Order: sequence, then C-alpha cells, then structure tokens
Amino acid sequence: MRRKLVAGNWKMNGSLSANGGLLADILAGLGDVTCEVVACPPFPYLAQAQAMLSASPVGLGAQTLSEHPAGAFTGEVGAEMLREFGCRYVLVGHSERRSLFGESDAVVAAKLAAALAVGLVPVLCLGETLAEREAGQTEAVVSRQLQAVLDRVGVAALSGGVLAYEPVWAIGTGLTATPAQAQAVHAHIRACLAAHDAAVAAEVRILYGGSVKPQNAQELFGQQDIDGGLIGGASLVAEDFLAICRAAN
Ligand code: G3H
Repeated sequence: MRRKLVAGNWKMNGSLSANGGLLADILAGLGDVTCEVVACPPFPYLAQAQAMLSASPVGLGAQTLSEHPAGAFTGEVGAEMLREFGCRYVLVGHSERRSLFGESDAVVAAKLAAALAVGLVPVLCLGETLAEREAGQTEAVVSRQLQAVLDRVGVAALSGGVLAYEPVWAIGTGLTATPAQAQAVHAHIRACLAAHDAAVAAEVRILYGGSVKPQNAQELFGQQDIDGGLIGGASLVAEDFLAICRAAN
C-alpha cells in the first residue's frame, strides 16, 4: 500500500511574509489531512520553512540541487547543504530545469545520484512536450528519461523513491491530462520499472503534476497508479493546497 504524497513546488515565488502566512495557514488546516505533505520553497527560504515545519508533519524539499558535492560552482547549492537545512526531498529534472536551464538526461541522472549519496529522496520528474505527445512519443520520452537514471544508479536505488509524471503541456497552462491519460502514462512508467524489479515498481510512488486543482485532484488521485500530486500554482494558496491534500486522503 503506497501512502499518498502531495508536494507543493513553489517555484520562484514567495517572500518572508508571504511564506510565513502560507505555511501557518497550511499547518492550521492540516487536521483532516492524512496523506504525506511536502513543501518545496526557493533556496533562500529553506531556513524559514525549516524553523516553521521541523516540529510538524509537513516535510521539506528543495527544487533542484547541484550534481557536485562542493567546490567552485558559483551560484550552485549542494545536496549536503539541503540536508543541513532539513530537506528530506529534492525535485530532480523538473521540466523547467530541463527546458530553461538545459539539463540533459545525463545531468538529471547525475543530480539524482548526488541526492541519493547524502540520503535525500529525489523526486524524479518525467514528461513529454505537446509536440512529443502529438507525435505519439509520450511513452518513448518518459522511458528515455527514466532509463538515463536507471543506467546511472540502478533500479534498487529507486526503492522507496518518488517519481513525478508532469506532461509539459499541462504545467501552468490550465490544461490537465485527463485521469485516463495520466493513468496510462503512470502505468507505463511502473511497467518500465517492473521490467527491472517488480518489488521496486510496486512501492515507488508516482505523482501527477500539471494544473492539479481542488476540482480535479480527487479523480486524478483515484487512479490506480497515481500516488499523489506535485502541485505548482495551487500550492501557493493554502485553501487550495489543503483541498488537494484532502483529495489524496
Ligand atoms: O511542479 C509542479 C508542476 O510544474 C505543476 O505546476 O500546478 O502550476 O501546473 P502547475
């Protein structure tokens, strides 16, 4: 039985005062939430979030990390630093990192390995563009993205891990994959894992991301292979984020 997980990816949003209010509202409304909840603020706010969340059931995650452990990499943030600020999770290979910051499959795999090396749980993001979907390449794209990681760390390293399927065309667009479309890709991803190790495939949680809202969350999370959500825009509004968390109960 996989416990559902809902993670808020705040992207490059927030301020000390806005985050303080958002986290306080989330903590105040958690009473009837039973799924695992994670917040992923921008780097400068990790300390603030750590202070507010450390005694709470809400976990902390970062949005990316360097593939290098330390050294002359100006502007980068290493895995050990994230751990020191209380992170349990880190997003790896979000489509915005891939498309806007040129992260290749190989770089994504290296970042995932760097996270695992210090005991962080990577949330590996996979997903196709609209052009790729229309060309019938959805399964081939997510298979390729997953295989790059499997080649680097092996399937056992993903034991107890988290993946996120995020169709690029659904991110921040208001377009959501239908539950059936999402389920089909989630099942494909799980089958790819099962081809390597059935036990790992059965326990890995696969989140759906892409315009998840209170109105569509329950039906998405009700699909057999959808184990929760990676939430962008709606994670910035406490009421909406909490409603999505409740939909995962
Ligand atoms: O990481 C989150 C995803 O990119 C989804 O973002 O909920 O704003 O579409 P969104």
